[in-house]
Amino acid sequence: MKENKFNLPSINEARRRTKCAAKIEHLEFKIPEDIKDLGVGRSYFIRTYGCQANERDSEILAGILETMGYQKSEEFDKADLILLNTCAIRQNAEEKVFGEIGNLKRLKRTNPELIIGVCGCMAQEEATIKRLLSKYPWVDLVFGTHNLYNLPQLLKNVLFSKEKTIEVFSKEGEVIEDLPSSRLQKHKAWVNIMYGCDKFCAYCIVPYTRGKERSRLMEDILKEIDELIAEGYKEVCLLGQNVNAYGRDLDIKGGFGALLEAVAKTGIPRIRFMTSHPWNFDDQTIAICAKYPNIMPYIHLPLQSGNDEILRKMNRRYSAKEYKELYDKLKKAIPGCSFTTDIIVGFPNESDEAFKDTLDMVDYCQYDNAFTFIFSRRKGTPAYDMEDAIDMKTKEERLAILNKKVAHYANLANQRFLNTVVEVLVDGPSKKNPDIYAGYSKENKLVNFKANNVKIGDLVKVKITAVKSFSLDGEMIEDK
Ligand code: 5AD
Ligand code: SF4
Repeated sequence: MKENKFNLPSINEARRRTKCAAKIEHLEFKIPEDIKDLGVGRSYFIRTYGCQANERDSEILAGILETMGYQKSEEFDKADLILLNTCAIRQNAEEKVFGEIGNLKRLKRTNPELIIGVCGCMAQEEATIKRLLSKYPWVDLVFGTHNLYNLPQLLKNVLFSKEKTIEVFSKEGEVIEDLPSSRLQKHKAWVNIMYGCDKFCAYCIVPYTRGKERSRLMEDILKEIDELIAEGYKEVCLLGQNVNAYGRDLDIKGGFGALLEAVAKTGIPRIRFMTSHPWNFDDQTIAICAKYPNIMPYIHLPLQSGNDEILRKMNRRYSAKEYKELYDKLKKAIPGCSFTTDIIVGFPNESDEAFKDTLDMVDYCQYDNAFTFIFSRRKGTPAYDMEDAIDMKTKEERLAILNKKVAHYANLANQRFLNTVVEVLVDGPSKKNPDIYAGYSKENKLVNFKANNVKIGDLVKVKITAVKSFSLDGEMIEDK
């Protein structure tokens, strides 16, 4: 690793991959004596952008801060420390963060003691750090995705030396166990099973910001899940950029399928996982999904494009035909399974015909939902330099056409639940109406329902009385 005054990140270094397995460290997480009470009397606020990996990292950051005595602040502008845990996946996600950092200047003026930190994926980008340094001098602290565990030392540096502190490593990364964490929910938990990504899809910044694919040991994952069960958790979501690659770096026999089976056998009522890459979704994993009733019949299977030429340029490693075959296999093996996907429109030089292939695939798979995006150029990725003759207006029109189709099939897919009874894990009162509860069915459908005397974390039966495109309405029925 090249070190300079500020440990600036380097995309070129982040691109490198070695063959050796990542180091797994079981830390006895101790905060040095001189700073162990640094947070006493101080409060923190973490704002999280982007994916579940960031949500989970924020829980770990919160855990570290609370170990130092910091208290969570419910209000952004009352906190003594504000951390923005950022996402770099698309330019508009980044602009949102820069907008927020811009707003923080005002807070810093009224409270000069306020510490402002930026972490997460944007912190791993060279260009972002340069922009932060030159245009946003009120940011005190920047640290990368590989530097979470060092937060106490970094805060010490900011507070005692009053220096701007930047620590970002561009490296493949290790696996660090036993960090403290303060989970946001008490009934559903994110559980990392692996970190990083080695797929290098041509458009994607993640392999550079999160390092190489590296798995946690199965015993560490199962220990975490056993503890969650003991605390009363009802659902775990196994997290990785690409869960089907689980265990390959450690030669774990049976890979993701074996892990999934072991998690199913713990007896926790609900298990889901994301994200699956269609390329290494093997038959054993499909059989295990079909076999265990506590594995939720819900699969997020990113398509990205339905056109072979675009898929090849994206470096996705599957053809449209292979994707369809996998989809058919899953649908047949897991009755009632719901499917969601991610789709990018306007990849460089995507022709009308290529876009039509994507629409045809949506017609074929009739997804329960799809997350759709216009291609965004990310500096350092292969697609950044690709020629593109397609204008933004065409891309926006395609997105609108696609979204209309997605909404149509989402509604159609929900019709199958009308007048049926589904099992719902209760999240709490609905955001819009406190007399109505909200939760998710096993198929990961949002259900708003009338009920009496239910608590967060209850598993209840709900009769579906009305169907919308992106949610279901119903009434709880008492179990006789
Ligand atoms: N532009 C647009 N969408 C992207 N995604 C990842 N990188 C980009 C990009 N550069 C989308 C993919 C991925 C999801 C998490 O974000 O569809 O599956
Ligand atoms: Fe990005 Fe592709 Fe890795 Fe997903 S599999 S994180 S889209 S590089």
